[in-house]
Amino acid sequence: MRHFLTLKDFTKEEILEIIDIAIDIKKNLKNKVYKKELEMQTLGMIFEKSSTRTRVSFETGMFQLGGHALFLSNRDIHLGRGEPVKDTARVISSMCDMVMIRTFEHSKLEEFAKYSAVPVINGLTDSYHPVQLLADYMTMIEYGISENAVVAYIGDGNNMTHSWLMLAAKIGFELRIATPKGYEVDSQVLEDALHLAKKSGAIIKMSNSVEDALQDATIVTTDTWASMGQEDEKEERIKAFDGYMVDGLKMCLAQKGAKFLHCLPAYRGQEVSEELLEAHADIVFDEAENRLHAQKGLMVWLDRQRG
Ligand code: CP
Ligand code: NVA
Repeated sequence: MRHFLTLKDFTKEEILEIIDIAIDIKKNLKNKVYKKELEMQTLGMIFEKSSTRTRVSFETGMFQLGGHALFLSNRDIHLGRGEPVKDTARVISSMCDMVMIRTFEHSKLEEFAKYSAVPVINGLTDSYHPVQLLADYMTMIEYGISENAVVAYIGDGNNMTHSWLMLAAKIGFELRIATPKGYEVDSQVLEDALHLAKKSGAIIKMSNSVEDALQDATIVTTDTWASMGQEDEKEERIKAFDGYMVDGLKMCLAQKGAKFLHCLPAYRGQEVSEELLEAHADIVFDEAENRLHAQKGLMVWLDRQRG
């Protein structure tokens, strides 16, 4: 049995295998072919933070695969009132076939997985958002921009940045990250990624210079400056990130025809301009839709690992 906590635990081949299943499932869905690969299975979805895409994609995906998904907000379950994670894990995993969790500390997810009898999926923690990167890489493949990709990530060194680091390190593409001083990525995550990059041939460059990161990039991406849980820092962050908004002028530094990706939700006028987001709406909303297909691929893959 396997869990899906970070891309660090997955080989390049496994990541590509999951995406292959997802691409096939997407093709079938477009032809109205529904294979009930998870018939009678239940996915427990624990949300300690808000969500639009993650909730809708997992719930819809599980239904389309012939199963059922349960939305468990921490306002409603005893976890939110202090019932231990290990007890919650043992109870929920005794009744559900898979569990997805969106929470704060990554260690809480790891503890849940340790006590769970069924596969656990990271639906976002403060440290990583790996299901988003499955959809992002699937989108890169579909748009024909995964080969020789040079990805520039402009913004906060957060869960998305850490996940881009792991994806680049596993797949082996070039990733340049530009963050303001004081908002760099976690040093341990960077060290792990650099270590993995030696094997895959990935090129990873860190700086505080937006211009350096963008130079001839083929893909530009960003994320919110204030993640969930950092609402109190919003004003201070808006000041610290001055000059980091991705807009049409900055895109001119990237390669001609470079694509823009965003995990959403987007804060127009902060990390991205309204004009730039709308100019790249086709790919950004395909990326969002791919959350559905990529996670269906992931759930089918995890189910197959059980044998
Ligand atoms: N990108 C993403 O995970 O979106 P939600 O927060 O809406 O789930
Ligand atoms: N970094 C953002 C991602 C949202 C999908 C957050 O954690 O809020």
